[in-house]
Amino acid sequence: MCGIVGYSGIKSVENVLVNKLKLLEYRGYDSSGIAVKSGENIKVTKAKGEIANLERVVEPLEGATLGIGHTRWATHGVPCEINAHPHLSMNKEWTIVHNGVIENYSALKTELKERDYEFVSETDTEVVVNLIECYSGKPEVKYDLAAIIKACERLDGSYALAVLNRKSDKIYFAKNKCPLYCGVNDGEFMLSSDPICFVGFSNEYYVLENGEFGYYGNGKLFFCDESMRQTEKEPVKLDCSAYNFKNDFSHFMIKEIYEVKDAISNIMEYYSEKSSWRHFDEIDFKSIKNIKIVGCGTAYHAGLVGANIIERQLGAECGVYVASEYRYASTKTDKNTLAIFISQSGETADTLAAEDIACRKGAKTLAVVNVEYSTLAKTADYFLPIKAGVEIAVASTKAYVAQIVVLYLIAARIKSNLGCGETPVKGELERLKNAVTIRNIEHYKRIADELKSRRSLFMIARGADYCTALEACLKIKETSYINANAYYAGELKHGFLAIVEENFYVCVFASDEKLLSKTLANAEEAKARGAKLILTTCCDLENYNKSNFDIIIKTPKTDELLQPAADIVPWQIIAYYISVAKGLNPDKPRNLAKSVTVE
Ligand code: G6P
Repeated sequence: MCGIVGYSGIKSVENVLVNKLKLLEYRGYDSSGIAVKSGENIKVTKAKGEIANLERVVEPLEGATLGIGHTRWATHGVPCEINAHPHLSMNKEWTIVHNGVIENYSALKTELKERDYEFVSETDTEVVVNLIECYSGKPEVKYDLAAIIKACERLDGSYALAVLNRKSDKIYFAKNKCPLYCGVNDGEFMLSSDPICFVGFSNEYYVLENGEFGYYGNGKLFFCDESMRQTEKEPVKLDCSAYNFKNDFSHFMIKEIYEVKDAISNIMEYYSEKSSWRHFDEIDFKSIKNIKIVGCGTAYHAGLVGANIIERQLGAECGVYVASEYRYASTKTDKNTLAIFISQSGETADTLAAEDIACRKGAKTLAVVNVEYSTLAKTADYFLPIKAGVEIAVASTKAYVAQIVVLYLIAARIKSNLGCGETPVKGELERLKNAVTIRNIEHYKRIADELKSRRSLFMIARGADYCTALEACLKIKETSYINANAYYAGELKHGFLAIVEENFYVCVFASDEKLLSKTLANAEEAKARGAKLILTTCCDLENYNKSNFDIIIKTPKTDELLQPAADIVPWQIIAYYISVAKGLNPDKPRNLAKSVTVE
């Protein structure tokens, strides 16, 4: 988490840094800060809370031409001004911003304290900046960059760093396991955690690799490895069309829900090209004996839906794992495993670590990722993009649907490559596109209004509908802080019924025709104990007592394997409107961040 930015050039540094930090705010927003430099004078400004708070207190420093900035999602120490970045070294020679986690910071801090270093914050980052200062004082360390490299050699963990030295007009940078990009344009330089910052700045940018260092100064951009050997890099073209901003929508979340349909169109177009499958088709599918799917949060839920698709399409067993569990479990993974890693950002620390483990165990690893320049997209053996376009809101919506659709195509492709038959994917995806077209928005707003003052909500379902219930709960928890929990409908009698009382809302997901009567019977058990029921289904209810339900959300029917992708959309909208009705910011839930780059 956390976003870092650096700028050197002719514009008002403070404005550039603050505006770029706003674009990175999705990475963390509990505090922020900038350091700008004019001659040997470095001015640091920090604020708790959103970037808007920083913007209010920033004042220009005369003659400042370069600076660094940071938006924080706290890992070490509470969100407050003291713990906010940038951090200065004890003798104020160095200033730093950091994204990542230094695992051995405690031992390093003790070592530095023994050398009389004093600390003002609780952060791991302040240890790094003092370590740099410590090395820079050594006679054998001749260059600023050498001091930074020496300090980084001591660090266990992850970092993207931007560093200033009081006596130099360079911006130094270093990267290990956290994303970092930089670009130049006609005497200006920009460093950022996300290429989104290059929109309106340059048409291309450089992607930093793990273990790479460098600086920008006096019009020169320099990259090197840990031995200070210069590295040659080719710039990557910036796809500006990917960064369409909020337009007329009040929030990114609702804009992105409206884009679910476009995401499906993009997927259909991209995967109709044979060349998009070229690399994937090289896999020897006959040698695959087991399939694993790994992800976190929403991506994990997409994996649950995907596993059902794979099992039904291929008749193969498919295990689904939360990445933070998979990485420490002794799950059977070997050269006959196809391990699929799902991630919107492609930067989630646990998912990256899980991929690394699967790779070392000899599995073929496949990344199903939205951000195409991400670490996961690069490190996995195979990569299939989900083509959802940039997703900014913390609560993932269009990426979830896109992940399911790509998993559906993967299952169909494997089936076809094994000679086991063709799936009419085009027609089915057209049907899904129609199903996710947003209608009945007023109906959803009314439901949101009804639910907004609830402290808890329960969802029940069976089979693949249970994945929808889980994801609906996650959306509601993330955006409106209501304690929403999903249960298998058949488990009702094993505990859950004890908490049902008068006017308690139970949301029932029942689109699986075969399980409909069973799930509705369970819903009646809750009704008999006073619960109010909200039913989400694509099924025909002619033979059922509709009056049992206080609210019905009727979704269009799709291929049953894709139905969870259609059924979630109303609940994404409801979660959004509950958040708005409660006066919250659905794009930036408290305590959460879009990209979790720490364990
Ligand atoms: C965070 C986000 C979630 C996301 C999860 C996994 O928790 O807030 O929206 O589902 O990370 O992220 P990934 O980028 O790996 O899909």
